[in-house]
Amino acid sequence: MHTPDDNRYEKIKYNRCGRSGIQLPAISLGFWHNFGGVDVLENSRAMARHAFDLGITHFDLANNYGPPPGSAEETMGYILKNDLRGYRDELIISSKAGYGMWPGPYGDWGSRKFLVASLDQSLKRMGLDYVDIFYHHRPDPETPLEETMGALHDIVRSGKALYAGVSNYPAELTKNAEEIMRSMGMHILIHQPKYSMFERWVEDGLLTELREDGIGCIVFSPLAQGLLTDKYLEGIPADSRAAKPTGFLRPEQVTSEKIGKVRKLNEMAKARGQKLAQMALAWVLRHKEVTSAVIGASKVGQIDDAVKAATSPAFSPEELKKIDSILAGK
Ligand SMILES: NC(=O)c1ccc[n+]([C@@H]2O[C@H](COP(=O)([O-])OP(=O)(O)OC[C@H]3O[C@@H](n4cnc5c(N)ncnc54)[C@H](OP(=O)(O)O)[C@@H]3O)[C@@H](O)[C@H]2O)c1
Repeated sequence: MHTPDDNRYEKIKYNRCGRSGIQLPAISLGFWHNFGGVDVLENSRAMARHAFDLGITHFDLANNYGPPPGSAEETMGYILKNDLRGYRDELIISSKAGYGMWPGPYGDWGSRKFLVASLDQSLKRMGLDYVDIFYHHRPDPETPLEETMGALHDIVRSGKALYAGVSNYPAELTKNAEEIMRSMGMHILIHQPKYSMFERWVEDGLLTELREDGIGCIVFSPLAQGLLTDKYLEGIPADSRAAKPTGFLRPEQVTSEKIGKVRKLNEMAKARGQKLAQMALAWVLRHKEVTSAVIGASKVGQIDDAVKAATSPAFSPEELKKIDSILAGK
């Protein structure tokens, strides 16, 4: 059993999640990579324990994280049982359903049938009675939104999740989803979109929608899966995500065009007295709508880097302009 650091709640900033009673740490830890059955369990355990010691109270999962799919939730279950037992009430644990999980027409997308069955499976794997947040993982173009939101609503009412979230929903669909939820007397707690210096779609209407409807925002892949760090400046290291056969970042995505920009951003970060990973995290957290940045990590030290980013100096207007011009290739 792990004895957490007594000072853990002084180490990180907590931000209110939209208009809700929940606060999330500015940095959350995601279990997409490095917590699966193919990974070294002792490393996954060490990262989760260290994160909790740093005040990271939120672990983000999904039914399909692994590989194999489902195994990251089993790792979470192992950690909860062996390392963090007794601390359930200090943790926000999320899961999701929306991507293909089992064969046939009921193991994918956004039907009530899929969401309810998938959450039951997730709870079993994690050994939990409830998750704190349950997300619909991606929009389903064919299932009526009323059905998907109705399922999230009923799941929350059943007590198997405390709050509902959506992920990867465009602004207009988010607005419609929230209207449906409100009509049932509920509210979407949080949205989980992809956002980084290399992926800025949320700036085009989503953040405004979230602010207007009081929905929190936790951004994923804020480091563009590791591209927005100093890791790939001299090629693809053997221990990086791009080099791993099970990584979602493929070597061909590490382009010379991107690395050219990363090199300039890295110089800027140095001038600010921080690592590029920290500058990239501070940059997504600069919006007041962004409650938390959910990072991935392969090593304990990367979590230390991230937590320091949450107390970075604010960006001057000149710095923000310079970042925009580097990203525009100027
Ligand atoms: N809702 C969705 O559809 C969705 C989709 C994707 C992800 N997510 C969530 O978002 C979480 C984070 O996604 P992500 O892992 O892509 O996030 P990320 O923070 O952009 O990338 C994490 C990776 O960057 C590298 N890294 C991190 N800190 C570093 C540092 N200080 N220096 C050098 N390299 C560093 C590590 O890769 P190395 O292995 O190379 O060290 C690490 O695994 C996931 O775990 C999941 O919870 C959600």
